[in-house]
Amino acid sequence: MLQIQHLEKTYKNAVEPSLRGLSLSFSTTCIAGLLGPNGAGKTTTISILCGLVKADSGAASLLGLDVIKDAEAIKKRIGVVPQSIALYPTLTAVENFQYIGKLYGLSSSVLKSRITHYLQIFGLEKSAQKAIRYYSGGMKRRANIIASLLHEPELLILDEPTAGVDVQSRNMILQFLQEYHQMGHGIVYTSHLLEEAQQLCDEIAIIDHGQLVVQGRPKELMQNQQAGSLEQVFLQLTGSSLRD
Ligand SMILES: Nc1ncnc2c1ncn2[C@@H]1O[C@H](COP(=O)(O)OP(=O)(O)OP(=O)(O)O)[C@@H](O)[C@H]1O
Ligand SMILES: [Mg+2]
Repeated sequence: MLQIQHLEKTYKNAVEPSLRGLSLSFSTTCIAGLLGPNGAGKTTTISILCGLVKADSGAASLLGLDVIKDAEAIKKRIGVVPQSIALYPTLTAVENFQYIGKLYGLSSSVLKSRITHYLQIFGLEKSAQKAIRYYSGGMKRRANIIASLLHEPELLILDEPTAGVDVQSRNMILQFLQEYHQMGHGIVYTSHLLEEAQQLCDEIAIIDHGQLVVQGRPKELMQNQQAGSLEQVFLQLTGSSLRD
């Protein structure tokens, strides 16, 4: 569902490259984790995959489609949950979702039923008519996910969907991701929470300094590294120095 070959990216005015020949792949419809320390290049990679940032060189494909040549076709089939909240703060949740759903060309009746459905799943039905700026951090994160789900994409890509949320919201989000995957959809997500990734992911890739460090199934990686947890694997392979 995702293939990346030798991606290179240096941002304008940046001193160092953000991606240095990154290559990795995730097989069809698994729950995949793209893991790495701060500044490893996770958000840059996702931005290239969804067409927000152009790589200097290399190639990437999603669902067998090239991220540049087939950008329009990809947009209809994937949903991307960005690391920062991408909702209009002065609009209510429903107003945000109606606007986004219309951009995806959903009919009013389909959109209405999906908004009701997802507000209920994500426990936001009582706050449906509240402006997003009055939402708590956890509510904003949940609403941010709904926004990318309205067109029910085949592949959902989430950049730190559980950052800064409480245990209740996190459990709810993780349970939803598992259910969405069981319905036949692919999931690619980033996180700093290694224990969470160990429980959730079928496959993971650890990246650091814009390069692949290791990739595989969590259990196999733990066996190979003789580590008791994914966190140990991560620290063994990426070291303990602080990142910018
Ligand atoms: N727009 C930009 N201009 C210049 N440098 C950037 C830009 N965006 C990211 N970078 C740099 O690229 C590198 C990778 O950043 P990126 O945001 O992709 O990392 P990340 O793995 O998502 O980190 P985090 O876990 O903190 O979200 C970092 O060194 C960062 O400072
Ligand atoms: Mg990031």
